[in-house]
Amino acid sequence: MADKDGNVLAKDYGIGIEPPQRIFSVKGHQCAGWGMQGRLSQIFGDDGRTIMLAFDHGYIMGSTAGLERLDLVIPPLLPYADCLMATRGALRTCIPGNHRKAVALRCTADTSVLKDDMSFGSAGVDIEDAIRMNASCMAVQCFVGAAGELDSLKTLSYYVNQGEKYGVPVLGVVAVGKEMERTTRYFSLATRLLAEQGAHIIKTYYCDNFEQITAACPVPIVIAGGKKIPESEALAMAYRAVNEGAAGVDMGRNVLQAACPSAMLRAIRMVVHENAKPEEAYHAYELWRKDVK
Ligand code: 5RP
Repeated sequence: MADKDGNVLAKDYGIGIEPPQRIFSVKGHQCAGWGMQGRLSQIFGDDGRTIMLAFDHGYIMGSTAGLERLDLVIPPLLPYADCLMATRGALRTCIPGNHRKAVALRCTADTSVLKDDMSFGSAGVDIEDAIRMNASCMAVQCFVGAAGELDSLKTLSYYVNQGEKYGVPVLGVVAVGKEMERTTRYFSLATRLLAEQGAHIIKTYYCDNFEQITAACPVPIVIAGGKKIPESEALAMAYRAVNEGAAGVDMGRNVLQAACPSAMLRAIRMVVHENAKPEEAYHAYELWRKDVK
């Protein structure tokens, strides 16, 4: 060693003091590897919750209302999101590289809304590119009950295997095809199935008896927002979801198509991270909305 001589003698060994107990608060991942836990911690706060902002719609829907100009619309929302869910194409072109947010990278290559049956997707982004993109997790679309079910579950397994190898979690996304029922029974089956196949986080839709779904799912669940509904109703849905066991939201259109997206995301933040009642959050939304105009 260059400083062999003149070093201060080491003496503070804390003899008799037990190493601190480490608590990891993300559901189901207490035994995950250190790198995997690190990436999950980029997504979930110390309260075990997250606000993901989904703007990956273009990869199957093209340019959608509210998402026409991601480069203009998304950057002002970054302060209020914990995690950005998007494709590599959108991230690279619209988000500055110094963003400091978690990233849920849309990895599957799925077919567009022009197809009657969209359930035959495949792996798209490879794990090396996900790592190059600093992905905190890889989002994989799964079509339980559809014609392409087996293909999509094989794709899920592929990403889970790769993710386990490199410490990158997988977000299993429950896709609801045109013909699929949106019942408690369906979401209960699909979420549990994806978790048992190894997905580390599950994205699904809110439904009746949601607490049964979160209880039976061994890993965190985040809810999609779905089609645009009035802001007050979207806040009420987020409130019910987190109070019935969801670990947060992964919302797109109900933020991006709101009259004021930044105020909406701030209001969702109040509900998810501050346990605000939906009425209180909606009141704040209205005030912030006036400020922005
Ligand atoms: C579709 C997705 C999308 O990211 C998600 O649906 C977008 O969120 P929202 O429904 O809130 O617009 O995962 O499979």
